[in-house]
Amino acid sequence: MKELVRLKTEAEIATMRRAGIVVAEMLERCGAAVRPGITTADLDRIAQQVLRERGATSSFLGYFGYPATICTSVNDEIVHGIPGQRKLREGDIIGIDAGAIVDGWHADAAVTVPVGRVSAEARRLIATAEEALRLAIASVRPGARLGDVGATVQGLVEREGFSVVRNYVGHGIGQAMHEPPQVPNYGTSGQGRLITAGLCLAIEPMVNIGGPETRLLDDGWTVKTADGSISAHFEHSVAVTPAGAVVLTAAAEKAPVSRRLVGAAKHV
Ligand code: MF3
Ligand code: CO
Repeated sequence: MKELVRLKTEAEIATMRRAGIVVAEMLERCGAAVRPGITTADLDRIAQQVLRERGATSSFLGYFGYPATICTSVNDEIVHGIPGQRKLREGDIIGIDAGAIVDGWHADAAVTVPVGRVSAEARRLIATAEEALRLAIASVRPGARLGDVGATVQGLVEREGFSVVRNYVGHGIGQAMHEPPQVPNYGTSGQGRLITAGLCLAIEPMVNIGGPETRLLDDGWTVKTADGSISAHFEHSVAVTPAGAVVLTAAAEKAPVSRRLVGAAKHV
């Protein structure tokens, strides 16, 4: 049976962009708060506060019973770590994953950040995962195929000597957080579904220093590397337009300085 992929209109994509700006702010404010001693539950509260301020809701809270606003995945946790009383320590790395709903439309993104000073290997892992996402997004345009996206991620990651997780993949996104099609971080260029304007995708490379195998913890959510090696995760939601991919979860552009001055002058 062929999965049903719903293409989005320009107006729908504009609403998803509003959700994406909220997600970007959640990640920015959580990321800026990361330091030794803070707990992952503290980060969850910061994300809740952003949603409250923006009148948005979490894509994650209550999703199949998921108990928190964001996911926080530390060190050998790949994705879906549940915020709690764990205190971050110097040298850890933490993946922060957030989703927001605005007027019924979802956006979903993730970053991995160092806690204080981390090893050179951890820095290279994070940089590789982030660059893999950047290149994957650059490969998205009408006429390309999902296999191009996967091959792009896999190519860079394996050249760096790391591995790509296969048991979890990116996804379509829209009025549901997870929609078809699946977006694997591995594959063969020229193969897979054709990418066309209106397709909205969450692209999310998960990169392990060791092997690609995963292990699900007894909490039913937390996914760890099977070999205990550390893992990094980056994600953006993107919309395909005739001109290429638009990153829905990029931070809002700041007004140019000149316009900000004019805006400020009005209040004098
Ligand atoms: N970004 C994650 C994903 O696409 C969201 C986790 S869903 C949750 O899988 F419910 F576990 F939070
Ligand atoms: Co996702």
